[in-house]
Amino acid sequence: MCGIFGMIGGGAVSNTLRALKYLEYRGYDSAGIAVKGDGGLKIYKTEGRIQNLVDIVPQGLQGGTAIGHTRWATHGAVCAENAHPFYSPDRNFAVVHNGIIENYLTLKEELISQGAEFSSATDSETVAHLLMREYNGDVLEAVQKTAKQLSGSFAIVIATTYDQRLFAVKRRSPLVVGIGNGGVYLCSDIRCVSRWAEQVAVTPDNTIVVTGSDGVYFYDYEGNAVQVDFFDAEEVEEMEQVKGEFMIKEIYEIPERIRLAKREYMRSGLQLNAETVRKFKRIYLIGCGTAYNSGLQVAAVARKLLDIDVLPVIASEFIYDNYPVDSKTLAFFISQSGETADTIRACEKVKEQGGCTYAVTNTKSSQLAYACDRTADISAGGEFAVASTKAYNCQLITLLLLMLDVAKIRGTLDVELYDRVVAAVDELPEAIDNILNDSYDIARLADEVKDCSAVFFIGRTTDYPTAAEGSLKLKEISYIHSEAYPAGELKHGTLALMEEGVGVVAIATDGDLKEKMALSIKEVVARGAKVICVSPYKFENAIPLAIPAVDKLLIGVVAVVPLQLLAYYTAKRLGRDVDKPRNLAKSVTVE
Ligand code: G6P
Repeated sequence: MCGIFGMIGGGAVSNTLRALKYLEYRGYDSAGIAVKGDGGLKIYKTEGRIQNLVDIVPQGLQGGTAIGHTRWATHGAVCAENAHPFYSPDRNFAVVHNGIIENYLTLKEELISQGAEFSSATDSETVAHLLMREYNGDVLEAVQKTAKQLSGSFAIVIATTYDQRLFAVKRRSPLVVGIGNGGVYLCSDIRCVSRWAEQVAVTPDNTIVVTGSDGVYFYDYEGNAVQVDFFDAEEVEEMEQVKGEFMIKEIYEIPERIRLAKREYMRSGLQLNAETVRKFKRIYLIGCGTAYNSGLQVAAVARKLLDIDVLPVIASEFIYDNYPVDSKTLAFFISQSGETADTIRACEKVKEQGGCTYAVTNTKSSQLAYACDRTADISAGGEFAVASTKAYNCQLITLLLLMLDVAKIRGTLDVELYDRVVAAVDELPEAIDNILNDSYDIARLADEVKDCSAVFFIGRTTDYPTAAEGSLKLKEISYIHSEAYPAGELKHGTLALMEEGVGVVAIATDGDLKEKMALSIKEVVARGAKVICVSPYKFENAIPLAIPAVDKLLIGVVAVVPLQLLAYYTAKRLGRDVDKPRNLAKSVTVE
């Protein structure tokens, strides 16, 4: 949700534009860059994708300092006026911002009463005005005074004509600092900055960063030095080498990523001692979107393994509801990015109430990972398509292994079954490869799905979360109306919507519930709906989407793959922008 970048060093303009392309997954409503040259600060900004920005920045534009932004609109419409960066009225400051300035209206009214004129409807522009107002010969002091007046969440990068250095302020939105290859860098995303930086540091909350050719300095709002450690940057894949969409590439990576997720879990283990594990009385699985669906899936499996409540909860609901938490609570926070504001808030709440917090994330250096007592790395590798795919499968692997360990320690799962299931994880990559090798069948089915007026996904028990994830994938990238229901619930209302032109995707992996699903399929077919059935079994009146049979506790990892592919091919048939669906962003850093 908005990506920011700033750098001082050779090639600052071209590197900032490259960085913005990398950060585009965070928002793609508009983009802009401010470049510092002999004539002061010059801003270029435009509505739409980064390529539009590249098209308006003069070829060969030079500058040793640049800051850039890619926007997902929160305050103000999608237009060039609301694109970042923003000048201060005297053009001595330029700012880019990720987050929300919650008290911006009060600040804006105060500034207007003092004669300020605003050029945009954003909250972010107030920061540029405040910097100008507070500047009295010392930029750091102006930044401190400004930062103290802001509430909400923000990572702000500031370029100024008064000083060679770049300044930044960070509270609750991500800000990584990098050094190396002759430059200093400020960025929302650690993987992005790691393509240039040799050393990186994660900025703590309520910190001001000053970067220049003489080094990087961190201060609190009073000007006291803050100690922040740098660590070696990891090698990252060059994004430019990816041909076609990220989503399909990421789906095809699932088999290998499952292997890596298991290897990483086996290396790091549960990280909780037996005494602690035995004392837990409840487990929460908390997340948003796809991450929530992985919690839903794992909770359905864990209920078969454990003697305590395992509750999946949507993070934004958890924050404002009254779920019980105490020292006997173990809460897993599931988040690919580790940045999702709702998930981080929910984590803070559990911490305040004395529960044990455990991040399950793809980003070890994320705010969520720092906030939690323990972290499990799902090892999915960089995921750039807004619709999450491989991260879901890796979240399932990591969480299932965590649950198996908890159950083994609590004595609710015998060692033989434990060993069998852990070994069965190794069979999943091949099973998924078989589905991927037959993906042309799924591509053909997409021709049927693309013309549906609505598509309902149904499943029972552990198949319901797969239905939920399949439905989410389809709606977010194809824009076809879609919902997921426990199959038995259809007759209590949704059946009223069944008619010609409606599609139903039934997920039926449990042999014991085959007859029940057969009945649900008959009910919807009788009303004119067309049914596709994802199953190792055959069903009358349904187009089969066959999946290999694997261990019952792990089948959700496999059953979701044809649904990920179905969503992808349907969206392609409809000519959608698969990687960057309308109105969405990959990291949602606002509540
Ligand atoms: C956004 C993305 C989803 C993702 C969700 C949670 O809504 O579009 O794909 O599942 O955020 O993201 P997280 O990074 O916390 O897993």
